[in-house]
Amino acid sequence: MRVVDAFAETYGTTPAGTWYAPGRVNLIGEHTDYNDGLVLPFAVPWGIRLAASPREDDLLRIRSLQAGSQTISQLTDATGWARYVAGVFWVLREQGHPVRGADLVVDGDLPQGAGLSSSAALEVATALALNDLYALNLPPLDLAKLAQRAENEFVGMPCGLMDQATSALARPGHALLLDCRSLATRHIPLDLAAHGLEILIINTNVHHELADGQYAARRQDCENAAKHLGVPALRDVTDLAAALSRLDGAERRRTQHVVTENHRVEAVIGLLRAGVPAEIGALLNASHLSLRDQFEVSCPELDVAVESAIRGGARGARLTGGGFGGSAIALIPCDRRSSVEESVRAAYAERGWRAPTFQSATPAEGARRVN
Ligand code: GLA
Repeated sequence: MRVVDAFAETYGTTPAGTWYAPGRVNLIGEHTDYNDGLVLPFAVPWGIRLAASPREDDLLRIRSLQAGSQTISQLTDATGWARYVAGVFWVLREQGHPVRGADLVVDGDLPQGAGLSSSAALEVATALALNDLYALNLPPLDLAKLAQRAENEFVGMPCGLMDQATSALARPGHALLLDCRSLATRHIPLDLAAHGLEILIINTNVHHELADGQYAARRQDCENAAKHLGVPALRDVTDLAAALSRLDGAERRRTQHVVTENHRVEAVIGLLRAGVPAEIGALLNASHLSLRDQFEVSCPELDVAVESAIRGGARGARLTGGGFGGSAIALIPCDRRSSVEESVRAAYAERGWRAPTFQSATPAEGARRVN
């Protein structure tokens, strides 16, 4: 394995172990996780490989095969991508675990900035490695939660639990239904190929810089709306019409999105159970329009990807992940792949935009030790 060879070359020994954690796409249930709602993501077959050995001092040496090396004596010295690793060490120490330093090599094949959660994959791979190296015996959901805490409190990004939970818990051939309040999970079979369908990931290759600030602002809008309505979270809105009549402006639009998106997740589950996955296309489209118009997290590149994919023969399409760039997903009949790609490519070329990239993804396995 390349990451093991690189470890030997860098540190002159073989690593104590190697771990892997995947990225994700979200089929549906967007911006619902931090509203205690429902999400239905799956793991993609790309992710982060991490080779690690513990150290007897507190030094952290990390080499990324994609992004250079950092030697960190204080966790707060970590910069850029290394903060996701350092954050996991920080949380474990905060929780009182006897975690010292480590030598690490990281190798990833997830495109960064594509909205496929490379940062969550890096956090979960680190958490899993430390869980094994120190025999902490934490279950996968706890690893996901501490990875989320690393991102919230150490990196400063107020994300929900979806990305880390998917990376830690996903099963091949299944989407993961996560109830973000009870944290109950169900593995939902997603065999699109049996129906002549596939999910095509369309990477817009843009990442608008305002993404993080806007994410925090959306989360704040949702919390304000819940407070106005006197409910713990927007998950608890049962009478949407009554709730909307008590709100206006951004809080009204955000509430409409979150409540209808939770309904769409349930409807998608029902259609998958009924064995008619092609029918979820309309719900993917509705999700995109709601994210564009009510939640206001789309951008021209995502809108054009979605519209041109549908013109090219997709059954439905939507942005996936936080928005403001990154990727869209399209549900397509397998035999329409080239016409969908051609349609999106042409629409981008017409506008003089950088070409998008395409990858089809089937639900892959979650994080694990590989060696
Ligand atoms: C990002 C966050 C997730 C989730 C999505 C939007 O990916 O990390 O927690 O909120 O955005 O659904």
